[in-house]
Amino acid sequence: MKQDMILILDLGSDENARLAREIRTLGVYSEIYPHDIGVDQIKALPNVKGIILNGGVNREIDGVFIDTSEAVYTCGLPLFLADHKGEKPWPESAEKRRQTLSDFIFSVCGAQANWNTENFISDQIDLIKRQVGDGHVLLALSGGVDSSVVAALLLKAIGNRLTCVHVNHGLMRKGESEQVIDVFGKALGANLVYVDAVDRFLDKLVDVDDPEQKRKVIGEEFVRVFEEEARKLNGINFLAQGTIYPDIIESGTKTVKAVKSHHNVGGLPEDLQFELVEPVKMLFKDEVRAVGSELGLPDNMVHRQPFPGPGLGVRCLGAITRDRLEAVRESDAILHEELAKAGLIEQIWQFFTVVPDFRSTGVKEGKRSFDWPVVVRAVNTIDAMTAVVPELPWPLLQTLTKRITSEVAGVNRVLYDLTPKPSGTIEWE
Ligand code: XMP
Repeated sequence: MKQDMILILDLGSDENARLAREIRTLGVYSEIYPHDIGVDQIKALPNVKGIILNGGVNREIDGVFIDTSEAVYTCGLPLFLADHKGEKPWPESAEKRRQTLSDFIFSVCGAQANWNTENFISDQIDLIKRQVGDGHVLLALSGGVDSSVVAALLLKAIGNRLTCVHVNHGLMRKGESEQVIDVFGKALGANLVYVDAVDRFLDKLVDVDDPEQKRKVIGEEFVRVFEEEARKLNGINFLAQGTIYPDIIESGTKTVKAVKSHHNVGGLPEDLQFELVEPVKMLFKDEVRAVGSELGLPDNMVHRQPFPGPGLGVRCLGAITRDRLEAVRESDAILHEELAKAGLIEQIWQFFTVVPDFRSTGVKEGKRSFDWPVVVRAVNTIDAMTAVVPELPWPLLQTLTKRITSEVAGVNRVLYDLTPKPSGTIEWE
């Protein structure tokens, strides 16, 4: 392993993720573990240079005094006790906090600032090779950032012993499935199984109008299709997943158990249990993107905005119909194009269009029309828990209205959603 590591042992702080990020920003790798990790487990971790015991009001969790005792003190590693309300609080100012951290990490622990994407990639390639041996790995490749980066890493490590399955459920944005085929199937020469499951999904979704039911149908059908494809392939021993660090840190809990364990592999049946390969599970989203860029993935894939698992399915409101779904897809592509032309893509966290399941009267080409509206949604947020609506330039909104009403079949109005979260959610369903 090329990178040094600082361990954060969780004593009930809800700031562990922030601390890990701060340490990584200083160029040193850091991971979070429960406070009751044993000495053997610490010793088995590579290149640990020091330990930070973080948080906990006087090291009490839910009224129980936490004895970190020998487990940590006998490791012989430099130790920093960072009770945020205890005897050694973090300095108030960001600058002093950074200095305190940096003194501990570099002067006391003697860690090297050797955490970077290049070393991460080279370490992961070694780790994957060691874990997989001469086995075969299966990956569900949606074209999202996380699964794409995992595919690119695995390709480097084990080449054609990786099989990627891309399920097109008909709820992808315009050109997404084509890009997966172009980048992975063609340019990178991966083993790619492309499954056209459009009719299958859309048939299952006929008359399903409840948002949660739609999510359930889409999720279950996905597992079913993936399972069928997995059964057709022989000799698969591993399943790769694009799990990332925020997925496994139980955020905001006073924790005795900081990290969730994954028992169930994506809802697959018992007899199809594979060993998991999760090479980006210790990375934050921006780090995953940096690794993707370093691996040469295209910018629009690496910087893709968040896209819900059920895809356009939750933006075609009510029971999904093919014509309205097409209207969502086409209007979404126009919105993307126009925001790109206006140079606003980077400045908006998430944007998309929604097509409701009601129609209104209008006039098109001199004739009465009775068509759907398209709702344009754009939001800025830090954590998706609350969100504000950016003020889009009026000429841009006019151009969007003109293009969407003239180029998208079955649409006669365009609305801009002004609702922050709360009271709205980001998605409409
Ligand atoms: P809401 O609508 O809850 O969205 O304000 C917050 C963020 O979550 C995304 N989202 C989903 N992501 N599966 C997902 O993977 C879902 O079912 C889902 N619903 C919402 C949404 O796009 C936004 O970024």
